[in-house]
Amino acid sequence: MTYPRIRPRRLRRTAALRRLVSETRLAPAELVLPMFVKEGLAEPRPIASLPGVVQHSRESLRKAAAEAVRAGVGGIMLFGVPASRDATGSGGLDPDGILNVAIRDVVAEVGDVTVVMSDLCLDEFTSHGHCGLLAADGSVDNDATVAAYAEMAVAQADAGAGMLGPSGMMDGQIGVIRQALDAAGHTDTALLAYAVKYASSFYGPFRDAVESALVGDRRTYQQDPANVRESLREVELDVAEGADVVMVKPALPYLDVLSAVRDLVQVPVAAYQVSGEYAMVEAAAANGWVERDRVIMESLTAIRRAGAQIILTYWAVEAAHALRELD
Ligand code: PBG
Repeated sequence: MTYPRIRPRRLRRTAALRRLVSETRLAPAELVLPMFVKEGLAEPRPIASLPGVVQHSRESLRKAAAEAVRAGVGGIMLFGVPASRDATGSGGLDPDGILNVAIRDVVAEVGDVTVVMSDLCLDEFTSHGHCGLLAADGSVDNDATVAAYAEMAVAQADAGAGMLGPSGMMDGQIGVIRQALDAAGHTDTALLAYAVKYASSFYGPFRDAVESALVGDRRTYQQDPANVRESLREVELDVAEGADVVMVKPALPYLDVLSAVRDLVQVPVAAYQVSGEYAMVEAAAANGWVERDRVIMESLTAIRRAGAQIILTYWAVEAAHALRELD
């Protein structure tokens, strides 16, 4: 009987050894908290399918943003829920629309100590729920939509957002938005491109959170879950058009895509752990079927390991606190 001299288990024997050789570490600065603010709310309102997440009032948003900063998160991504919608999503372009007002509020509250980001898309503001403007035949009109995004981008930058997240998956949106920002003097406003965004069923709870009016799906602009080369093409285009950071979304079901994107480009890569990923863990944990806290950290570690340098997650504040305790 011969015994192995090479023993990988040697490095797993104690917590100190495991800590020493760990290849992936998470830090609060890499976590971004998505937040919802609803026009006209006096009190924050819970979202049934996202336990622990709320639609904020303007007042509660300011407080929660300050709390997130104290926890050390790297950024905040704002989503607005308007009181009323129309066919062109005009509330998104209006400087006094809920999202732009909320950007001003949060910037006034937290200043420059965290990165204030805003979702740049029309779906929260349109009466039909699509991410863009509709042509006469009911299809989403790419170029008209991108022109609206350009105007929306300038309004968000005027409001003080430091990084904009175009998430509508229209062709050419990064280039057109970059041009409009530069022309308006916002040359320092960064773009976090939702470069890779799948037509995913994991967005269900988010659509509750923003009270989406969508009937049908987004498969003519978001990507087919079957494809990965198509994602690399999207990423290359966005980087060429001026994206400062590229994002893959959802995260956990698409780790192979994340890894391929990481290998392809030199800009920072982000991943969005989306609402359905969050809700599944919360639901299973509520039933006692998984260990909640460990599943959260394991999923974040996996997303980080696959190549995301930045992670958008509804657990950002909680995870930031947990990481500080570990350290
Ligand atoms: C579009 C947008 C969506 C999400 C982020 N930005 C919804 C969609 O594309 O249908 C989903 C995020 C999540 O599920 O957590 N503005």
